[in-house]
Amino acid sequence: MQDKSAPSPEDAPKAGLAADETGVPRKKIFVKTYGCQMNVYDSARMVDVMAPSGYTEVDAPDEADIVILNTCHIREKAAEKVYSELGRLRELKKEKSGRGENLVIGVAGCVAQAEGEEMRRRAPAVDLVLGPQTYHRLPEYVARLANGGPGIVETEFPAEDKFESLPAPERRKTLARGATAFLTIQEGCDKFCTFCVVPYTRGAEFSRPLSRIVDEARALAEAGVREITLLGQNVNAWHGDDGSGGVATLAKLIRHLARIDGVERLRYTTSHPRDMDEELLAAHAEVPELMPYLHLPVQSGSDRILAAMNRRHDAESYLRLIERIRAARPDIALSSDFIVGFPGETEEDFEATLALVREVGFAQAYSFKYSPRPGTPAAGEEDQLPEEVKSERLARLQDLLGEQQIAFNRACAGKSMKVLFDRRGKGERQLVGRSPWLQSVHVEDAPESLFGEIVDVEIEEGYRNSLRGRLRQAEPILA
Ligand code: SAH
Ligand code: SF4
Ligand code: F3S
Repeated sequence: MQDKSAPSPEDAPKAGLAADETGVPRKKIFVKTYGCQMNVYDSARMVDVMAPSGYTEVDAPDEADIVILNTCHIREKAAEKVYSELGRLRELKKEKSGRGENLVIGVAGCVAQAEGEEMRRRAPAVDLVLGPQTYHRLPEYVARLANGGPGIVETEFPAEDKFESLPAPERRKTLARGATAFLTIQEGCDKFCTFCVVPYTRGAEFSRPLSRIVDEARALAEAGVREITLLGQNVNAWHGDDGSGGVATLAKLIRHLARIDGVERLRYTTSHPRDMDEELLAAHAEVPELMPYLHLPVQSGSDRILAAMNRRHDAESYLRLIERIRAARPDIALSSDFIVGFPGETEEDFEATLALVREVGFAQAYSFKYSPRPGTPAAGEEDQLPEEVKSERLARLQDLLGEQQIAFNRACAGKSMKVLFDRRGKGERQLVGRSPWLQSVHVEDAPESLFGEIVDVEIEEGYRNSLRGRLRQAEPILA
């Protein structure tokens, strides 16, 4: 049936923008996300923050009035991708302007923060450059640009709390998408690993207040979210006021969130080994909502390299920590990040990394070639390694990690596990979900009604990057 209140095509204005019932013009925003999950969260919040000005999200730049690239500066490749995308957008802007339409091009995130003014010099089609701590001001900047104002570069770390200026949780509720969601609880980093740009692009460590996080989680749960992943560059450094004059740690926050109706699963990422405390290990043992999966970056297995990286832990203390985590939660799946080819890394150092991997046994991992980042201490070291050495070591490490991942997934065959269905698959009646161990599980012949539900699935086969299973049949009722 047709919605009577919907305007017919004849009612639509010929030029300019359609308006909604409150008279706010309807416009379109496209946000492209690079980098980590914190950027995924920020991109969603940029869309939220623009909604009151009449913007809805579209999934291609061609239809958009504003395109924002939410960028990542962690490795050179990540940053370079942005400039090739800007080349394409410059053409689109020209085309649109030929049709009398305007396109605002914004660059947000960590490349914007790191390059600032330089970005507009290198890519003059860019109208707006804004760092990760200022995107709550997006509506104001866009309005200035729409009124013909000059280009804007904003890379301050303002004193006001960005999160407090973002739309209230009620708003998020209407905008939550699907059964899983990210929730940023902590930002920034004070650890200054010698290879890393994050302390410079995201600024000093900052924790959001407990009550605000609980409100946001509640709004997400009411909107149908079943699994929340708490985010922070150093998420386990989160701390807050516990409401009675004491300090709440991440473990306490997790226990609070687990009590919210509808929150059935919790995860957190990314953790630093130095901030894993006893309370958090106890939460892994005692809070059933906390999923048995932990991403705990180690970067290297060589003490010499770990010291040069300023990680402030050694291989042995990491291994002992893993033992304690496994004692608390024996079925926990472990994941990590690795950097190969850090300046001065010898074959012996690299072999220490392989030895650590063999000893731990990871279910999943990310590994990267060291990429010198401007302004970081390690980039200035003289003993940078040749590209071929880095590539060769990365291939060896990835072979080993790949074997471990396949072994972990294959060992799931024959088991039954709870799967949260959160995506539609390629096949007609295929649904895809997440296992407690963050594996993708594909199930054929799954009714649409299971979308957003947590269901028992029998795993038939494990592959490198996913599992295949079938719905557990109810016991036949015997006459
Ligand atoms: N806060 C997290 C990680 C943030 S960055 C932590 O402390 O572990 C994500 C990953 O990118 C890092 O764990 C590291 O493995 C990788 N990375 C960071 N800087 C890098 C660089 N200069 N070259 C290559 N990889 C890098
Ligand atoms: Fe970067 Fe180290 Fe901070 Fe992680 S802990 S964000 S690797 S400086
Ligand atoms: Fe990249 Fe910034 Fe995240 S550099 S990894 S987008 S914090």
